[in-house]
Amino acid sequence: MSGKLIVVSNRIPTAATPSGGLVFALHETLRKTGGIWIGSDPEFQADPSDTLKEIGDQSTYQRLAFEMSETDYQTFYLGFANSVLWPVCHRRGDLVQMSRRFEEGYRRVNKRLARQIFEVAGPEDMIWVHDYHFFPLAADLRELGFEGKIGFFLHIPFPALGDMGALPPSANLAHWLADYDLVGLQTRSDVARCLEMFRSELGAELMHDGKIKYGERRVGVRSFPIGIDVEAFVATAEKSTNREEIAKDLSGELIIGVDRLDYSKGLPNRFRAFGRYLETRKDKERRPSLLQIAPPTREEVSAYRDIRFELEELAGRLNGENAELDWTPLRYIHRNIDRDVLAKLFRTARVGFVTPFADGMNLVAKEYIAAQDPEDPGVLVLSRMAGAAEDMTEALLVNPYDIEEMSEALAQALDMPLEERQARYTACMKRVRATDVGRWSENYLNALKDSRRDLSWSS
Ligand code: G6P
Repeated sequence: MSGKLIVVSNRIPTAATPSGGLVFALHETLRKTGGIWIGSDPEFQADPSDTLKEIGDQSTYQRLAFEMSETDYQTFYLGFANSVLWPVCHRRGDLVQMSRRFEEGYRRVNKRLARQIFEVAGPEDMIWVHDYHFFPLAADLRELGFEGKIGFFLHIPFPALGDMGALPPSANLAHWLADYDLVGLQTRSDVARCLEMFRSELGAELMHDGKIKYGERRVGVRSFPIGIDVEAFVATAEKSTNREEIAKDLSGELIIGVDRLDYSKGLPNRFRAFGRYLETRKDKERRPSLLQIAPPTREEVSAYRDIRFELEELAGRLNGENAELDWTPLRYIHRNIDRDVLAKLFRTARVGFVTPFADGMNLVAKEYIAAQDPEDPGVLVLSRMAGAAEDMTEALLVNPYDIEEMSEALAQALDMPLEERQARYTACMKRVRATDVGRWSENYLNALKDSRRDLSWSS
């Protein structure tokens, strides 16, 4: 590549060496190639600047922030991104909040950002846009005259055509995405839905190389299942020699769940399934506990406040009905826990309980597997609706709407003999390794380099 790489994501890490899967992988990529990472400035400005400004560490590559006003944040981020696009992509059209102000805010922030990127991007540069906050960015950049390569990766599920009916007419995903050279999605099912949209909305043709042809344009649509930094996570989990210390208050068998407190994660049904398991378990002497870590997220949006109240009520009832003087069946923590402690908790837990109603991939499922002791691994109970289930078929797959089935899966997981646990772990771990996040970004960027948007282009 003769130009530089420009990565765009709403969140930008400011620390010299950020931790966390995706952020770490992009950081490593940019550290090797140099380039620019652009994200939003967490501080609001009454009058957002027209130019990007430096933010955080600048030693290995440039980090630039775009400013937003409080109104931008409310309409672009809380509004259109998280009260329209997020519920639509997660099949919760009933939670969509319609407002012209949200649409305007979304377009305003994307258009302003496109102008700011256009200022810093050379014609040879390659731009890699992440997630639903920026669907129209390529269209806005093309309008300004940028002709270089622009790739998009959607971290969340691609919506079905029927669900897109809940979007306002101004949100034309097919037109917006047709201006990218490569649309990367998590799973093969996402790709099928995206192709269906291009076919039905634009009358685009699917070519034999898997690209779609729309007039003179070629758009690659492919799945790149994201993963974790496997070796780093395994190493962190292995450091957990002192299991007792972490688990000293977690007597008995541990079932663990870790999710942002989001309505897409299926937490109320998870609690109900655990309650059902407790009721129906044959051996009443057996006292497993469910540890649910659910850090707060997007709390200004009412659907997130509602799910919190629902969960708190359920948690209180479940413990009220089942706890003993010396046993608290459910531990529910509504805050962030350090990643190294999480890794140790995953390794300690006999069951990883991951039951979203809809999820782009779900990296917790992969982290849980990576953290296991191969000699004595735990069992992953995984929703069929998570992107991770497409390949991790040796997990115990469940329907997150079926309380009975999930409670039976818990019983099966807790009773599973060592040999079967090892066989399932080995198969899942193979998938976790195959999708390592370093390889993920390399694969994506190679495909973007090789892409050609327009027939008339020579390369
Ligand atoms: C999902 C999205 C990300 C987002 C993250 C946290 O994983 O795909 O784009 O950053 O949730 O949500 P937040 O709204 O806190 O950035």
